[in-house]
Amino acid sequence: MASPTNYDKRPHHHPSSLWFSSLNLVLLLMAPLVVFLLLVSTLSPQHPSTLYPLSFSSYRSSIVQEPTFNNSIVNGSFTDSSSLEAETDFFAPNVPFSDAIMEKETPQLEEMSKNKESEGIVKRNSKLERIEANLARVRSSIKEAALVRNLSSIHQDPDYVPQGPIYRNANPFHRSYLEMEKLFKIYVYKEGEPPMFHNGPCRSIYSSEGRFIHELEKGNFYRTQDPDEALVYFLPFSVVMLVHYLYNPGNFKTDAIGRVVVDYVDVISGKHPYWNRSLGADHFMLSCHDWGPRASSYVPHLFHKSIRVLCNANTSEGFNPSKDASFPEINLLTGEVEGLLGGPSPSRRSILAFFAGRLHGYIRYLLLNEWKDKRDPDVQVFDQLPRGVSYTSKLKDSRFCLCPSGYEVASPRIVEAIYAECVPVLISDNYVPPFSDVLNWKAFSIQVAVKDIPNIKKILMGISQRQYLRMQRRVKQVQRHFVVNASPKRYDVFHMINHSIWLRRLNIQVRDFDHS
Ligand SMILES: *[C@@H]1O[C@H](CO)[C@@H](O)[C@H](O)[C@H]1NC(C)=O
Ligand SMILES: *[C@@H]1O[C@H](CO)[C@@H](O)[C@H](O)[C@H]1NC(C)=O
Ligand SMILES: *[C@@H]1O[C@H](CO)[C@@H](O)[C@H](O)[C@H]1NC(C)=O
Ligand SMILES: *[C@@H]1O[C@H](CO)[C@@H](O)[C@H](O)[C@H]1NC(C)=O
Ligand SMILES: *[C@@H]1O[C@H](CO)[C@@H](O)[C@H](O)[C@H]1NC(C)=O
Ligand SMILES: *[C@@H]1O[C@H](CO)[C@@H](O)[C@H](O)[C@H]1NC(C)=O
Repeated sequence: MASPTNYDKRPHHHPSSLWFSSLNLVLLLMAPLVVFLLLVSTLSPQHPSTLYPLSFSSYRSSIVQEPTFNNSIVNGSFTDSSSLEAETDFFAPNVPFSDAIMEKETPQLEEMSKNKESEGIVKRNSKLERIEANLARVRSSIKEAALVRNLSSIHQDPDYVPQGPIYRNANPFHRSYLEMEKLFKIYVYKEGEPPMFHNGPCRSIYSSEGRFIHELEKGNFYRTQDPDEALVYFLPFSVVMLVHYLYNPGNFKTDAIGRVVVDYVDVISGKHPYWNRSLGADHFMLSCHDWGPRASSYVPHLFHKSIRVLCNANTSEGFNPSKDASFPEINLLTGEVEGLLGGPSPSRRSILAFFAGRLHGYIRYLLLNEWKDKRDPDVQVFDQLPRGVSYTSKLKDSRFCLCPSGYEVASPRIVEAIYAECVPVLISDNYVPPFSDVLNWKAFSIQVAVKDIPNIKKILMGISQRQYLRMQRRVKQVQRHFVVNASPKRYDVFHMINHSIWLRRLNIQVRDFDHS
């Protein structure tokens, strides 16, 4: 097996010794701002229950290098495309999460020597000041936009004007989006080699992770080559790849994965000034793997301070919607969305509710247990579809599509339902749905509490035809925010993830301690 740390050879320090060695470093502080209140209370006036991030990277090979060893993840062959249940079988993620969180000492950051101040630092700081001044202006412009109480954005836009109840508040969202297009810049660290860095799966259940990493690598939109100009910094590792190459299913140990993440942060914080100045708060990682949270837990600042863009947005596993972003899980078996989008009108949908999927996790257990053997023609729940029955056509024949959590909180069924124009029914605990900072999920989805699984039919039958038609129309409207385009289009899923990251960056202020 290739060495996991071939991105940069340097003597390995014990991670904590690094924090105590006296170093010439410019310490910057992150001051949490009221902005999140702005974003959560105006863009998202309800309970801060969902979020979503995204961003991009620059770097070496935009071409995926095929690993010389096992490349089955790269080409997606590890998913069983004959079954619906690609979910997370593959890595049998059954170790209790809490065992993986390592309590480490918080670094002592007071001791900094200031003797190495160079012109470079001064220049960097003036750039930083300019960036922060711009962001301050943006914050107040979004706040101002939030004062407009209108269902429709009042900004001009040639492509799309956000409007209607699918948004928490269309006008400040639109303003924020337009400002993002002007100002957002992402720097992708170049350190790290494929296949574990700068690479990721583009098909299968984990496709969102790989697709996003690849988009960042291409960097057509907001990527910058000058790290001093960046608003955020991307740590381009793929947890799917780390697990694939480094996890030994025999002993359930994830230490090797943790070591690579620790080493990587060690390398970039040693070589570049940016990690230390914010303690990672303007850095982000991205993962669709169940173990995204666990992989980040090996570096306490990554876990507690950085922006973590995660499919597994489980608030019981430390997901914090004010700094982390929920990433939609999208299962692209072929890598393409063609044929998945659209469906018949509501009057031609004969099934009330539909689900097919294996018994993954306790919520599925409750659902299957309750409904599978009832064979109720209205609520069709399968662990395995009968032969010859097409999954996609079932989605399209249904009015509501049940989306229970599996081994992790996120379910690819949410996006499948939205693609098929079937109203999603979220059944989960502690899940923050994607883009909840911007989208008003209640307008286009139903949330059923786990304890109400036996009452699903009653709940869904209780929704009036008028209300259903409204929701279904909104599902069609919101679809654009979940579509994966071969080359990204404005307001599509990649841009929305970027927007989630951008919003999180707006919520913090980075300062240089020595120069303020
Ligand atoms: C950042 O801080 C760590 C730990 O204190 C130190 O080892 C590293 O050299 C610092 N990085 C820079 C660029 O000064
Ligand atoms: C690659 O995967 C196959 C099938 O899972 C396995 O039998 C083989 O040992 C793997 N090879 C390496 C080099 O890991
Ligand atoms: C994917 O990679 C695996 C392992 O190398 C190989 O056996 C399989 O044929 C490949 N599949 C495709 C579709 O390329
Ligand atoms: C509110 O939105 C409508 C379009 O939906 C627009 O015609 C109207 O001018 C807006 N009101 C204000 C105060 O901007
Ligand atoms: C998101 O932003 C990054 C960096 O700005 C950019 O490289 C990437 O292309 C964007 N993604 C999409 C899909 O627009
Ligand atoms: C969310 O996290 C908690 C705590 O680790 C765990 O018990 C629960 O099973 C997770 N939810 C899902 C659906 O995996």
